[in-house]
Order: sequence, then C-alpha cells, then structure tokens
Amino acid sequence: MGYFAKTRVFKVDPDNPDHEIISLVSRLLVAGKLVAFPTETVYGLGANAFDSTAIGHIFEAKERPSSDPIIVHINELNQVYKVAIHVPDITWMLAEKFWPGPLTLILERNSKIPESVSAGLNTVAVRMPNHQIPRRLIECSGVPIAAPSANLFTRPSPTTAQHVYTDLKNRVDVILDGGPCAIGLESTVLDLTGEVPVLLRPGGCSIESLRHVIPSIRFKPNYLSMGKDITPIGSPGMLLKHYSPRAKLLLFTGNHAKAIKKMVHVSRELISESISVGVMVSDEDERHFDGISVKMKLLGSHENLTQISHNLFAGMRELDENGVDVILVNEYSREGLGLAIWDRLVRASEGLIINSPIQEHLTIKIKDYALTISS
Ligand code: TXA
Ligand code: MG
Repeated sequence: MGYFAKTRVFKVDPDNPDHEIISLVSRLLVAGKLVAFPTETVYGLGANAFDSTAIGHIFEAKERPSSDPIIVHINELNQVYKVAIHVPDITWMLAEKFWPGPLTLILERNSKIPESVSAGLNTVAVRMPNHQIPRRLIECSGVPIAAPSANLFTRPSPTTAQHVYTDLKNRVDVILDGGPCAIGLESTVLDLTGEVPVLLRPGGCSIESLRHVIPSIRFKPNYLSMGKDITPIGSPGMLLKHYSPRAKLLLFTGNHAKAIKKMVHVSRELISESISVGVMVSDEDERHFDGISVKMKLLGSHENLTQISHNLFAGMRELDENGVDVILVNEYSREGLGLAIWDRLVRASEGLIINSPIQEHLTIKIKDYALTISS
C-alpha cells in the first residue's frame, strides 16, 4: 500500500514566504504529514526527521527502496547536534564557507534520528539549504526536516512544483510552489566519517571549491576512472538506474564537432525509421539541426554551466512529455558544476555512451529498430 494524501498546492514567495502558510504547513509537518518544497538545488519531499512513521511514508510515496538513505535539512549550525554526534572540526570549516548551500555532509548519526532515515547506517546526511522556504519551515516547526528529492524513484529530480505534482499527486499532502530551483541539480555529498573525506556525489558545490578547504578530498566513481581521459565504462546495466527520462538517453562524448555530427546523423537515421527524436544541446549548437524534425530543447550557452544545469532535468522531463522515444545529448566541460552535469548525464544514459574507447560499436534497440553507432 502506498501513501495516499489529497494534495494541496500553495504558491509561496521564495524570498519572503507568507507567514500564515509557513505556520500552517509547519503544524502539518509536526503532525506527520509530507510537504514538498523548493530548495536552491531541486524540490525536496519533506517530513519531520524525528518521526519514523512519516519517514516510512516518504519511502512509500516515492517508491524508493528502503536501502537508500535520506538527507536531513537544518536551519542553524547548533542543530547539527540534534542530528549528528562526534562532529569533526572540519565540519565547521566547511559549514562556514558553504552553508547555507548545496553541500551535504555525512556525519555520525545521533540515535534520535530514526535508523530508517539513514537506511540502517550509523551515519547521517546533513545539509543547510540556501532557500527561505525550507529554512522558515525548519525554524517554525522546530524540527529538522528529512527530505529526498521530490520525484518518483529513478525519475529526474524535480526543479518546478509542476514536476513534483506530475510525480507525486495524491502522494504528498502539500506542495509549496516557490518557482523554479536556481541550480537545478542536487547538492554535493561529502562523507566526513572516514580517514579521508570522500565525495560521494558531485553536485551544486564544486569539488574545486571544496579542495580549497580540504585538498585531500577523494573522488573516484568507477564510471569516471576508466582510461586516461576519465572516460566512462560503456556497459548498460553497470550503472545505477537513476535520474532517467522515460525516453532512452544517448550521451555523445569526445570531440565536440564529431559528436554533433554524429548526433545529426543519428537523428536523420532514426527519423527515417519513424522514431521520434529529442535533442538537448547548447544554444550555440541549435543551428546544426536546422531542417531536421527533432524536438529541440536548448539548455543555454555552453559557456554558462549554471544555465545548463538549471535546464538539464527540466529538459529531460519536457522532452518526455513531448513523447520522444530517444533523447540525444552531448557532454560539456567537466569543471566546476560541469562534473555534476556529467555525472547526471552518465547516469541518465544508463551506459548508452557513444565514443567510449573500450567499445567500437554500440547497438541500441529503440522501439523495433536496432541502431548501431560506431565510435
Ligand atoms: O540537493 C539535494 O541534495 C536534494 C535537496 C532536496 O536537498 N536532496 C536530494 O536527496 O537530492 P536524495 O535523497 O535524492 O539524494 C540523497 C543522496 C543519495 O545519493 C543518498 O544515497 C545520499 O545522499 N545519502 C544520504 N544519506 C547518506 C548516508 N548516511 N551515507 C551516504 N550517503 C547518503
Ligand atoms: Mg534523488
């Protein structure tokens, strides 16, 4: 049985949230209800972090496996101790520089936080969001708020209230509509519980900026470490299904001009087979698809990774709604926010990565058509 709730949507000013709405919704949170709200990264599906029943409802509503732990959101530094214990000094150095903001820290869990929040782990993920709506909710309710992204499990994270409604209608009590999220990708997750800090998920806070504070941070996901040019493994199924649109997403990597040329070629081939093609490219690359009947989603200038990240998940959802069978996308610089963009594209592609040095040909079944692309 899933969690059922009649969903109410309130529009809220993101900079100056209406006090009456915040106070009403805070009471609902304390009473165990589920509330979706914007943050600077993506929308979150929140519940009182001390309430294990409400936490159970989050997992049900999202259809999220109970093995995937949830981030706890706080509003003030001293609340770290409500959530964690044995907090290392480095936490405060990072907090001073990056909180409120898109950085999540893994610490030792305070036993007052139910085990289910952390999927049974002794650790807990903590973040102070840089957004007035969750911050006022935490302040007014007096409890930390546990919140994963407010999407159905495996779907792209929601960056507007409409995305949340599409996924979670009648599975969440309240959606606070504070407009689109600024960053559009989730927070960076950094584990501080081991000997060396380990980056578990690249996100809105760049690894370069973190390394200014802690030069020793380690980051080595297996899909980034193959080959000399940190190239992806090209094997579908080896990647966690995550952040995926319904359409198959093909990620074209390597030399930019060649990648675009291949995308144009593949678009033509698929269209001739009556397959509906979506393309997500930068503004600068739009012209290459002139006269080809693809559904186009422009992500912004390739020089502006903030724009690209802001539009990435929204673009996947928009093309899905247009009913495309396949989405073609190319890669961007992997610096700064670019690493998170790369990470989400690799995951969304589920290994359908073109130009991997370890495979010469990739054959992909799209509807009844077998598309073969050579590297
Ligand atoms: O930007 C964000 O982080 C958004 C907003 C709502 O804050 N939240 C979000 O939550 O993206 P979610 O649940 O979609 O992703 C949380 C990530 C997952 O990859 C999870 O495995 C990891 O954080 N995580 C949570 N608790 C953890 C823990 N104790 N140890 C290791 N990883 C943890
Ligand atoms: Mg998520």
